[in-house]
Amino acid sequence: MGRHCIAVIGGDGIGPEVVAEGLKCLRALSAVEEELEFEFREFPFNCQYYLEHGRMMPPDGLEQLGACEAIYLGGIGSPGEVPDEISLRETVLAIRFHFQQYANVRPCRPLAGAAFPLTTCRPEEIDFVVVREATEGLYAGIGGRYHPGDAKFDELAARVPAVRSSREVAVQAGVYTETGIRRVCRYAFELARRRQGRKLVTNCTKTNAMNYGMVFWDEIFTEVAADYPDIEHERRYVDALAMQMVLDPTRYDVIVAPNLFGDIITDITAALQGGLGMAPGANIAPGGISMFEPPHGTAPDIAGRGTANPLAAILTAELMLRELGEAHAAERLHDAVAKVVEARQVRTPDLGGSASCGEVGDAVVAALGGLV
Ligand code: IPM
Ligand code: MG
Repeated sequence: MGRHCIAVIGGDGIGPEVVAEGLKCLRALSAVEEELEFEFREFPFNCQYYLEHGRMMPPDGLEQLGACEAIYLGGIGSPGEVPDEISLRETVLAIRFHFQQYANVRPCRPLAGAAFPLTTCRPEEIDFVVVREATEGLYAGIGGRYHPGDAKFDELAARVPAVRSSREVAVQAGVYTETGIRRVCRYAFELARRRQGRKLVTNCTKTNAMNYGMVFWDEIFTEVAADYPDIEHERRYVDALAMQMVLDPTRYDVIVAPNLFGDIITDITAALQGGLGMAPGANIAPGGISMFEPPHGTAPDIAGRGTANPLAAILTAELMLRELGEAHAAERLHDAVAKVVEARQVRTPDLGGSASCGEVGDAVVAALGGLV
């Protein structure tokens, strides 16, 4: 309980629209919950900022964010204006890396009333969490582009036959540190211990094809697993796991995955929840400054129309409340969202309705018992 200073980055596209609804819900909660207060500090870090300043945030941007307790972010990216590999790397990825937000936590708890794509099980039978490593792996930004004549090019040509006939070759390396693997695996096992689930951690790798990084990852995972005899563990290659997440998602509890695999499979978890508009996410830096960010991105095609679904951002605010130690408020917010979704009355177009982003936010506030 207390006053929480939150850095708010609306970002681009639908980001500011959905974040506004999240903030609306947090303000409503603070009005009805005793001793729950927020100070929201807004930061204009987005592609517009880049167009004006040639960078996504000021040189001390990370420091400014670090003065707050947590970061709430809508989405970054305006592909027509700034290349994604610049806008995302200078904001989202820079923040994840700088604050060591190594546990990207994406729960999959489909709500009754949301679109559900499977016929083989019911939404309420599904309750698992993906813990995605978020500070290294294939996102590390290590590599280069080489032409014939570069020393690196010749070295690669000796190993990979196709390189010999190329005019240019790119290398994107994955970085897997012992520290990085151990801490995220440990986080996954601790989470499995806290949850009232199957007490099962599924290790998502691709050791059959990636003979260094994934072999190392598996070794560390197995070492960590030995410290948790009360938690079952298993290994699934990412391809097989992707299939099983569709065929029988009910069997999972906690899935731990390297960065890129985690990114891919969490779009499957979004689909199970009714689409990207329903899926929350958090980048957790245990004991540090975490960032709460729905995985849906900026959806430029629908930006500015007021039709974006704010529920992913609102459920993301719920994750933030939990991490801030505000479990009661978090539960209340979850119940309010569940009520709105189940009633099927106020829904944005992605869920088959015609309500606006703001109307959905208002409906959640009303369900919280607050005044719009
Ligand atoms: C996500 C997104 C980001 C990621 C992009 C926008 C860099 O897809 O959060 O899932 O890959 O991490
Ligand atoms: Mg993604």
